[in-house]
Amino acid sequence: MMLRNAWLLARGFHAPVCGDVEVLDDTLIEIDADGVIGDVVRPTEARYEVLKSAIEGQGILHRLPEGCYILPGFVDCHVHAPQYPQLGSALDVPLEVWLHKYTFPLEARFADLAYARRAYDLLVADLLANGTTTALYFATIHQEATRLLADICLEKGQRALVGKVAMDHPENCPDYYRDASPEAAVEGTRALIDYIFAHPDNASGLVKPVITPRFIPACTDAALEGLGQLAQECGCHVQTHCSESDWAHGYVLERHGMTDAASLDRFGLLGRRTMLAHSNFLTASDMELLKVREAAVAHCPLSNSFFAGAVFPLRAALEKGLHIGLGTDISGGPSASMFEASRNAITVSRMLETGVDPQKSAAERASGAPARIDFRHAFHVATAGGAKALDLPVGQFAPGYAFDAMLIDCNAPGGTIRLWDEAETSDDLLQRIIFTASKGNIAQVWVAGRAVAGTGIADQAA
Ligand code: GUN
Ligand code: FE
Repeated sequence: MMLRNAWLLARGFHAPVCGDVEVLDDTLIEIDADGVIGDVVRPTEARYEVLKSAIEGQGILHRLPEGCYILPGFVDCHVHAPQYPQLGSALDVPLEVWLHKYTFPLEARFADLAYARRAYDLLVADLLANGTTTALYFATIHQEATRLLADICLEKGQRALVGKVAMDHPENCPDYYRDASPEAAVEGTRALIDYIFAHPDNASGLVKPVITPRFIPACTDAALEGLGQLAQECGCHVQTHCSESDWAHGYVLERHGMTDAASLDRFGLLGRRTMLAHSNFLTASDMELLKVREAAVAHCPLSNSFFAGAVFPLRAALEKGLHIGLGTDISGGPSASMFEASRNAITVSRMLETGVDPQKSAAERASGAPARIDFRHAFHVATAGGAKALDLPVGQFAPGYAFDAMLIDCNAPGGTIRLWDEAETSDDLLQRIIFTASKGNIAQVWVAGRAVAGTGIADQAA
């Protein structure tokens, strides 16, 4: 069902504040003609009953079927769109080998637009079906294929931020897959920005361009400088990989004599709209710098287990007040589901806290500081936290925010949620959803009130 110029009688959950979950029970949500939330009225408010009767009388009140709950759509803060064809494979070697052995050859294939369409059509449809209503994408170095990714997001109605990858370093990028020069990297980025802003189907700004230096090792200083100037000029989002693995972190220390964060900062690449993927090896002063610049981290727990050899200290970063989103890092992370990313974030935080080497005593094994997060933090980071990190008005049910949401059907036979006796709308129900939901439970997905995916529900408009 389309939810524009409509009211929804909603049951569900959102987490505008990290660590807290608000349970919405019989809450009235007004959605305007553009798919933006106009009003949210809880049953405790004096005006509730009269308003509800009036809306019912007008026949514009939509009710949710039994056993169904709304959640804000997921905000995936780190996706490599062209890596979808290798999802679930190529996980056997370290990052610096993986790039040259598997990933650069795969990404180079996106010079072929037919191949790009096949991969991007499937990816965007699958992410929407998994409840991802906003995605921050790395594409490839190619102008045409990257434009096509933006086109496909617009066609399918996914909110997206799309970056042409900039990588021009002749020593660290292969001849067959590299920007021809620093100028080509910067001008190619500028051309994509112009294309997305001028797109005839993008008047609402559903798709945004992103300045995307792949990571410092792949870029010359001249390219980083040019991209930093461009970022200052246009105010666009910026994304890159930051201090991901020992190798990547060490390379930048050696080449620039400083950390990734410090180096990106001097190029003008660290600002309120910067998203740094991974960032596992941030120092205390890097964290301070990110806080001052209001730059964000995309935590990618599954990918980090394969390529980083370390766990990002999510709890410490949240307690410091950094902007944090969650990412699948397709295909470094072999899952397209933000439910799985949320579960992985919880799991690895427990392992970071306790340590994992059974040869050591519990005391020796432990990290010494509290590091665990629970489903409430994971849910926040996967929705409202990522949205705030990207400076986008989505991720929660509040006036002025777009109605980007998913409907979870707890009774879907093809799903993986199995409830027993309880049917109450409670925190614990959200916990069960976070830990056990899958695509088969996602009955409907909306972006700005427009139905874009889902296994389907009966329209029960009163
Ligand atoms: N560092 C540079 N490129 C990549 C990439 O494609 N994936 C990951 N995980 N790290 C990178
Ligand atoms: Fe990545």
